[in-house]
Amino acid sequence: MSDFSRRVVHWQRQHGRHDLPWQQTRDPYPVWLSEIMLQQTQVSAVLPYFQRFLARFPCLETLAAATREEVLALWSGLGYYARARNLHAAARLVVAEYGGRFPGTAAALAKLPGVGRSTAAAIAAFAFGERAAILDGNVKRVLCRHFAVEGIPVGAVEKALWTRAESLLPAASADMAAYTQGLMDLGATLCLRHVPDCAACPLAATCRARREGRTASLPTPRVSATKPERHAVFWLVTDGERLLLQQRPSRGIWGGLLSLPEDEDWRGGAIFFTRAMTALPQRVHVFTHFRLTISPRLVRLVRLPEIPAGYLALTFAQARAAALPAPVARLLAEAEILLNPDFALAAQV
Ligand code: ADE
Repeated sequence: MSDFSRRVVHWQRQHGRHDLPWQQTRDPYPVWLSEIMLQQTQVSAVLPYFQRFLARFPCLETLAAATREEVLALWSGLGYYARARNLHAAARLVVAEYGGRFPGTAAALAKLPGVGRSTAAAIAAFAFGERAAILDGNVKRVLCRHFAVEGIPVGAVEKALWTRAESLLPAASADMAAYTQGLMDLGATLCLRHVPDCAACPLAATCRARREGRTASLPTPRVSATKPERHAVFWLVTDGERLLLQQRPSRGIWGGLLSLPEDEDWRGGAIFFTRAMTALPQRVHVFTHFRLTISPRLVRLVRLPEIPAGYLALTFAQARAAALPAPVARLLAEAEILLNPDFALAAQV
């Protein structure tokens, strides 16, 4: 085995993370679920979602048989909702096409919706010990620094990194789980973007970026485009018991989730009196490609208006159990307190 992989494996066994719930199994179902949840999301955020998801969908068949609303409701708050839609689609595909058994190679796993090359390799390494290379953002950082790879790690640079990642794999399949986890753990705990902890790193002796004092400039940063700004008014229209929600289209931002009516539809509809309206504090939600400033308006009516197509009226309790984007869930909780201050007290005792 190369010295690089030997040091990663040894370090992982000594110092890496061993107690994560998805590490206690080689069953591809929880391994797959965890890897999808961990895409662009930190372990601490994933843990409660992973546990709840498995409690409700203990096996692939239960997930495949669920409705999309149920899946989205359990995912809500975790973000990047295309992951949940793809997860559900992949579960149905594995049941329909593979008789409920996960494909046994990284190449076949990579054909499932939502499973890219790196995620497929991680699942195959953890579940089957396959010698397949991962290359997520953290691992790119480790490799770019260790080998002083210049250039933004996309396109041709990324391709060269894949080749490099494959050449570094341990020889023995028994080491693949520790090696794969070790690279992830190094990237997440030591080889940090801003303040890498080189003193604790098992690769420090051979790391070119460290030797040449270039950890701050490698990997080459993307040209930082400032995110475009958008603005939306979110209407919280309620009679104190129920509130109006809008079903989002199945594709795009918050696809398939329930959200609040936005902007012109409601202002133009003249369905309420501005006298009944309270402006709540603005807040900013950051998406991958833009920043959204939300101006919430709470509108308290004696009676809800007739519900137009695409909208629905739910009680606050029903809304809490539905698939809501995180900022909408927070807004509803605030509104519930404003409408009924006793609710906050009751929730605390
Ligand atoms: N990020 C992606 N996969 C992970 C894993 N298996 N453990 C910790 N962080 C991860």
